[in-house]
Amino acid sequence: MTIIEIIEKKKNNLILSKEEIDFFISGMLKGEIADYQISSLLMAIVLNGMNEEETFYLTDAMIRSGETIDLSSIEGIKVDKHSTGGVGDKVTLILAPLLASFGLKVAKMSGRGLGHTGGTADKLESIPGYRLELSQEEFINQVNEIGVSVISQSGNLVPADKKLYALRDVTGTVDSIPLIASSIMSKKIASGADVIFIDVKVGNGALMKKIEDARKLANTMIHIGNRYHKKTICILTNMEEPLGYAIGNALEVQESISALKGMGPEDVMELIIKTTGLIVSSVSDLSLEEAEQQCFKKFNTGQAFEKFRQMVSFQGGDLEKLEISNRIFSVRSAKSGYISHIDALGLGEIARKIGAGRLKKEDQIHYQVGLVLTHKVGDFIEVNEELLKIYLDDKDVKVNEILECFTIQEDEVEKQPLIYEIIK
Ligand code: URA
Repeated sequence: MTIIEIIEKKKNNLILSKEEIDFFISGMLKGEIADYQISSLLMAIVLNGMNEEETFYLTDAMIRSGETIDLSSIEGIKVDKHSTGGVGDKVTLILAPLLASFGLKVAKMSGRGLGHTGGTADKLESIPGYRLELSQEEFINQVNEIGVSVISQSGNLVPADKKLYALRDVTGTVDSIPLIASSIMSKKIASGADVIFIDVKVGNGALMKKIEDARKLANTMIHIGNRYHKKTICILTNMEEPLGYAIGNALEVQESISALKGMGPEDVMELIIKTTGLIVSSVSDLSLEEAEQQCFKKFNTGQAFEKFRQMVSFQGGDLEKLEISNRIFSVRSAKSGYISHIDALGLGEIARKIGAGRLKKEDQIHYQVGLVLTHKVGDFIEVNEELLKIYLDDKDVKVNEILECFTIQEDEVEKQPLIYEIIK
């Protein structure tokens, strides 16, 4: 068997065997397959796809490429969640402590920002002192003690994904359902939780631009989860506009704290309550409605925020020291009318350029910068009224670039739903 034969086979739209997929992944990790050969096979997969069996074998080979986390010493139901990536997506910061306040166990590893999308690990790092790297023992002890810990991904978890992802990022091979499904599910299965919840973002600010593709991705991931006997739930949600108002690390932590107190933006609260309802009702005696209702109690009694505070403090962070830039500018609307579209991808790129994300791998994030919208799709805005606030550090941005992200029309706008579908 040679890698050239495997590439030729996929190029000719044939089905790869388990042995061929194993050969590819192990050869890649041993450094026996050149990057241009890996990229060539990735492109053949993007163009010709993989069936469910091949996608499962790929996921399995990726899981076996590194260490897996054993959460068996944590008592109770272990829940993990993942988002395929969006702009302003601060859900993990809110959901993880909220689920812990229901008695579920959340031992979660989170990623850094990718492209125009922010990463939970970067957001948490904006809290001075917060330790993203804990030993496995510290991680497990913390979850046993307070129910929740969010850390960065362990160095040796699914090394095959690290290698593949870095190549996909620079060879135009990210947007492939089998490649995305195996990338996400290998990490989720290797992380050891019993219940896997995945928010598949759909729209202009997301990897999946079309609902049919998002649905296919969700079904592929559920199929993989089922093969490992993991309860896997997917939710398809709208990423045509940023989630909430805040985009940028410390600003998103601030917005998450408001949400944990029950006072977050409407879309953030809707997504959090629906997600929590789905997860809690699927592992307890509570109905969906009862679980959703209980969320309000967790917000109002301070239990949800208290879990977040505990997590931050256990991991060395100091919320009192959270810093937001004080170089603030208002961007005002050039015309009046109804906002029909907010370009999440465009705003994500602007946030990245002013320092909220990285343009190069080695870039340092400026945690205190970002954007805060004052309006969402469907809102009416007057000419010269504030459209958003921008929090800058040492970089500047052209106002026109920001204004181009907003489409304003005369006629009233029918708002799209936030949650399209639930698949389980
Ligand atoms: N998130 C991942 O972890 N992997 C992908 O391929 C896409 C989104």
